[in-house]
Amino acid sequence: MHEDRHEAVMELAKRRGFFWQSYEIYGGVAGFYDLGPLGVRLKDKIISLWREFFIKKHSNIVVEIETPIIAPSKVFEASGHLEHFTDPIVECMKCGRKFRADHLIEEKLGIKAEGLSVEEMTNIIREHDLRCPVCGGPLSEVKLFNLLFKTTIGPYSSNIGYLRPETAQGMFVAFKRVYEVSRKRLPLGIAQIGRVARNEISPRQGMLRLREFTIAEIEFFFDPEEPFSNDLISELMDRLPRRKIRVLTVDAKKNGEEKPFEVDVEEAIRDKIILTPWLGYWMLVAQEFMHALGIGYSDMYFDEKAPEERAHYSAQTFDQLVHVSRYGWIEVSGHSYRTDYDLSRHMKYSGQDLRVFKQYREPIIVKKKQLIWDKAWIGRTFKSRAKTIFEELARLNVEEAIKELEEKGYIEVAGARIPRDKITVVEREEKITGKRFIPHVAEPSFGVERILYVVLDHAYTVKDGRVVLRLPRRIAPIDVAVFPLVKDAQIVKLAKKLWIELMNNGFYTLYDEEDSIGRRYARIDEIGVPAAITVDYQSLEDSTVTLRDRDTWDQVRIHIDKVVEAVRDFINGASLNDIGQRYG
Ligand code: GLY
Repeated sequence: MHEDRHEAVMELAKRRGFFWQSYEIYGGVAGFYDLGPLGVRLKDKIISLWREFFIKKHSNIVVEIETPIIAPSKVFEASGHLEHFTDPIVECMKCGRKFRADHLIEEKLGIKAEGLSVEEMTNIIREHDLRCPVCGGPLSEVKLFNLLFKTTIGPYSSNIGYLRPETAQGMFVAFKRVYEVSRKRLPLGIAQIGRVARNEISPRQGMLRLREFTIAEIEFFFDPEEPFSNDLISELMDRLPRRKIRVLTVDAKKNGEEKPFEVDVEEAIRDKIILTPWLGYWMLVAQEFMHALGIGYSDMYFDEKAPEERAHYSAQTFDQLVHVSRYGWIEVSGHSYRTDYDLSRHMKYSGQDLRVFKQYREPIIVKKKQLIWDKAWIGRTFKSRAKTIFEELARLNVEEAIKELEEKGYIEVAGARIPRDKITVVEREEKITGKRFIPHVAEPSFGVERILYVVLDHAYTVKDGRVVLRLPRRIAPIDVAVFPLVKDAQIVKLAKKLWIELMNNGFYTLYDEEDSIGRRYARIDEIGVPAAITVDYQSLEDSTVTLRDRDTWDQVRIHIDKVVEAVRDFINGASLNDIGQRYG
């Protein structure tokens, strides 16, 4: 047994098949991890729970799509990733090794370097004579390294593509189409769960900094003039058990505060601690989601990022941090107010109109000034030039033209002067039924593999010298184990019958008849199987079996005809006592 929980979790993950470093037989490659049989099951259940919290419970306002991992370069030119998605890099002039400059400065000098310019980092390196941590050689100037993985699309080397670093751009690019198939209504959340790739400079920290991983995120589009979406947010908040979150704001940090404080989300929105209401709402949901994964409320908080720490598209970002044994506070999700940044940029780069039309409840009558010119006079006076003059007059900004008329007594268009007496200004009423605008976006974005690690770190416990992985029952990779107490033919037959019945009813079920029952219980506790059904001698007499609780090791007897219902209720949270009373 390891003293260090992180080491123990990593060892367990590898030995029992949650995850391990990829390409092991070739020495492994940093930043890539395989998920094993249990890891895939756990990830699948985490994603199911995410879908439940973020999509199913919001199915009137959130839809899910799936878009490609590879995108043409235009997409990332537009999104700003080609320009801004960079980390600072420094190279050893002697051995050629490359390092992430801000991390090196932080680790070796204890100076916070995130967000500093490359010049500032170079100066710090020079001032402190920081050298290569491997060979002691001198370091180069700090440069920016773009984290996008590059490829080509098809056989043309000029046809550059990139692996997406976030799923978000798929939602922005497809926004208009999804909006149209979703009854053209705002607010509209577009969710996506998928693989992304980031060419990290020198990833360490195992599962926490991967070059390829899974993101689950929502781009939530709303009307910035109705940021509360007609009180929909308050209605949704009423469904949640808590309205308070722990935050550490940039302002509080400036005042020397290091500890997060509790705020009511609605108050935080009102006090402009959170800049836009939907951002706050999804933070509350994120808190409940992590809580359902077994993280205590006091083991998480939202850390506001300073402007220089935020991504280029964000007007405000809170990272949701969770405390883990080895690394302290680590980010599991980011919550960014992306404003209309992405849609505006895609409008510009694609030339397409991505605005939505907002119908006013009542049409608005506006008075508009209009210029009427004396066509006959212009025709007579300017002859062949008249056509061009009419076109230019039609294009004039009316207010500016009136000003020119007043100041000069004429308007000059296409080199011709049209005097005041040949132009009349009239006022007309116009009925406006609505307007076009670019929706704003609040984005909750989760790193799934990080969550998987965090969940294991929190579930890992030791009871009486044995490992018990206390995963929340609903996300355990295997729901239930079935054991014959001994290898008696009749007992084995009944156990196998129950095993098949449970599998046929949709449970991930494990059957094991090897070794003593104690060792079998120990094996399943270690991988977090919440329930075990054991068939024993008494089962043959009174048709009951035992149901054992992983966490307390207590057991109750239930009738063999009720095993499926009992396991279902137990996985859904019923206590062992209740199960005994209901199904005994
Ligand atoms: N879409 C969120 C991120 O790139 O982290």
